[in-house]
Amino acid sequence: MPFIRLDKLLADMGEGTRSQVKGLIKGGKVTVDGRKVTDSSLKVDTEASSVTVGGRLLNYSTFTYIMLNKPSGVITATRDSREQVVTDLLKPPYSKMGLFPVGRLDKDTTGLLILTNDGDFAHSSLSPKHHVPKTYYVEARGKFSQGITERFREGIVIDGGYKCREAVLKVQELKEDGISALVTVTEGKFHQIKRMFQAEGGEVTLLKRIAFGDIVLDQGLAPGESRPLNEDELKYIYGLKEKG
Ligand code: URA
Repeated sequence: MPFIRLDKLLADMGEGTRSQVKGLIKGGKVTVDGRKVTDSSLKVDTEASSVTVGGRLLNYSTFTYIMLNKPSGVITATRDSREQVVTDLLKPPYSKMGLFPVGRLDKDTTGLLILTNDGDFAHSSLSPKHHVPKTYYVEARGKFSQGITERFREGIVIDGGYKCREAVLKVQELKEDGISALVTVTEGKFHQIKRMFQAEGGEVTLLKRIAFGDIVLDQGLAPGESRPLNEDELKYIYGLKEKG
C-alpha cells in the first residue's frame, strides 16, 4: 500500500477469485482513472486512482486488516513505556500503517487479535448491538459441577452482579480438579471469561481466542506471527461495517 496490483485489489474487494478478476480485466471490464486496462499486474494507487468494474465505481478501502496470533506476555496496546505491545510484533510495511488492535486480550491471553487502521470497523465490531461471537479455548482449575453448560447458557452472574449474556460452553474434558472447554461469548466485559469461571469457583489457567465472528485463527501462524486477512475474511469485515 498504497500501490498494489490491480488483480489483487479487485480480489481483496471481493470481486472474485484472483483468476476470476484476471478474466474480468482481460475481458475489458475494468477501468483505472477512466481508461480501460487489460494488464492484471498494473500497480494501482489505492489512495488516488478510481477503479470501475463493469461501469461500477469501486469504493475500495485503503484500510488494512491483519490477523495476529498474540503470544502471552504482550500488552494489547499501541504503546507502553515499559512493556512490549502487540504492534511491536508487526513487520514492515504493516508496522508503518498506524494499525491498532480491535478489542483487547489480557497480557496472558493468546490467540486471534485483529489489527486495523479502520476506526469505523473497530467501532462497529465492538458495538454491543452487533454481538459478534468470540470463541476461546480455555483451561481452568477447580472443581466444576455438572450443569455448568446450562448455567453458561442461562447467563453467569459475575462479580459485581452483572448477568452475562447467553454463552455457549462446549466441555472437552471435565476432571476432578479442572476443565478444558470451548466457550463462545457475544460481549466483551473486562476479564469476562476469567470472571465467568471464577463465578463457578475456578481459576482460568490458559486462555486462547480462536475465533472472532467468522474469522478463525490461522493454525499456520506461530505465536507472534501475523498475516493480512484473506478475501473471505474481508467479506465478513465489510458485512459488519455495512451493519454500521
Ligand atoms: N476474557 C478474559 O478474561 N480475558 C481475555 O483476554 C479475553 C476474554
